[in-house]
Amino acid sequence: MNPTESKLFSPFQIGNLIIDNRFIRSATFECAANDDGSVSEDYAKIYKRLAKGKIGMIITGMISISEEGKSYKRQASLHSDEMIPGFSQLLNQVHEIGGKVFAQIAHGGRQSEIQGTFPKAPSFGIPDMVYRVLPIQMSVKDIKRIIKDFGNSALRAKKAGFDGVQIHGAHGYLISQFLSPFFNHRNDEWGKDAKGRFQFLRKVFDEIREKVGEDYPVIIKINIEDHTPFRGIRTEEVFENLEFLVEMGIDGVETSRGTLAFSMFDMCRGGVPSKEMSKIMPKPAQAMTNIALKLNYPKKKFAFTEAYNRLPGKKMKEVLNDCPLILVGGMRGFPLMDQIVKNGEADFISLCRPLIREPLILKKWSQGNTNDPTCVNCNKCLAGLAHHMVLQCREKKKF
Ligand SMILES: Cc1cc2nc3c(=O)[nH]c(=O)nc-3n(C[C@H](O)[C@H](O)[C@H](O)COP(=O)(O)O)c2cc1C
Repeated sequence: MNPTESKLFSPFQIGNLIIDNRFIRSATFECAANDDGSVSEDYAKIYKRLAKGKIGMIITGMISISEEGKSYKRQASLHSDEMIPGFSQLLNQVHEIGGKVFAQIAHGGRQSEIQGTFPKAPSFGIPDMVYRVLPIQMSVKDIKRIIKDFGNSALRAKKAGFDGVQIHGAHGYLISQFLSPFFNHRNDEWGKDAKGRFQFLRKVFDEIREKVGEDYPVIIKINIEDHTPFRGIRTEEVFENLEFLVEMGIDGVETSRGTLAFSMFDMCRGGVPSKEMSKIMPKPAQAMTNIALKLNYPKKKFAFTEAYNRLPGKKMKEVLNDCPLILVGGMRGFPLMDQIVKNGEADFISLCRPLIREPLILKKWSQGNTNDPTCVNCNKCLAGLAHHMVLQCREKKKF
């Protein structure tokens, strides 16, 4: 097969937007914004470089919708209009190169390293080793304020020139917390059963739609498996949420897995850089952290396999129907990606770690050289973020 004739290089639509090929850069936190969340030189460099790679669409790392929704230091933010000019300037440059960019908008809920010991979440909850917090339950007033914040930040994204937004509904951040029976124990209209747990997302979407209008692409990333210690979203149950999403009018769905606080290396299957991660702790706690990480992630538990979020058959696509499905997680070999799109199992292939190491890999593929990515899934890029270092491949770097 001549790779350039692959369906992977054919255009496809998300909402009214035509995407030149089937490759997407999956949201990847950059840890590169200025302290106030505005665009910095480091941040801009990442996106200008990616745009040169001719990926059909780039999704930014999680951008905070508000000050209280911020999870990490140096996280980009759309909490105020003052953030718009920096993004506009960058997006003009990226558009000139030919790139299309979606803003991934997020609220961290209990998954925040900067909101103190008692962040607000759907319900009171058990502590975890990663964020070391004791979440407290949000009031209905909090919920309504956050829904408005989602709408306002999506409008800022549109004003800044983003080509669309992706709601971050995966990996244990606020929307994922509302969806999950592990995090959401509410007995009011925002919890109780699957429909109630979906209510927050539905209202967030309606608010965004009202603010950005019918024609602006709004997509979502959700989990097909939470991997929380007990009773999170499980693969069998995800189809109901997919039905809700279609009924709601979403323009595209990216499916992922894992919860940062409890199963980070389910999201990013592969190596567990326990030594590098433990070095973020004070010296006396490093050895214990290293052991705890090794115990929590025994080698085989989340071993890397190609296309690890692929489900047998086309069931997800059958539920989603015309709504584009974006598959992320271990998408590596060109022949398998080609087969997945050719079979109609997914419409887009989304890549994260390979593009950290080789942002221009698609250019190579489009010229007929379809070697596998050289990323070894060591996950030291993630360890770098834990140290508040700017995103880059750190396979051979010392910590
Ligand atoms: C360094 C790093 C940062 C990430 N940041 C985000 C993020 O901001 N938002 C998100 O939805 N997923 C994030 N992810 C998850 C990826 O988007 C993707 O779902 C996961 O890495 C699996 O894809 P891959 O096998 O191509 O790396 C991140 C992953 C890594 C390794």
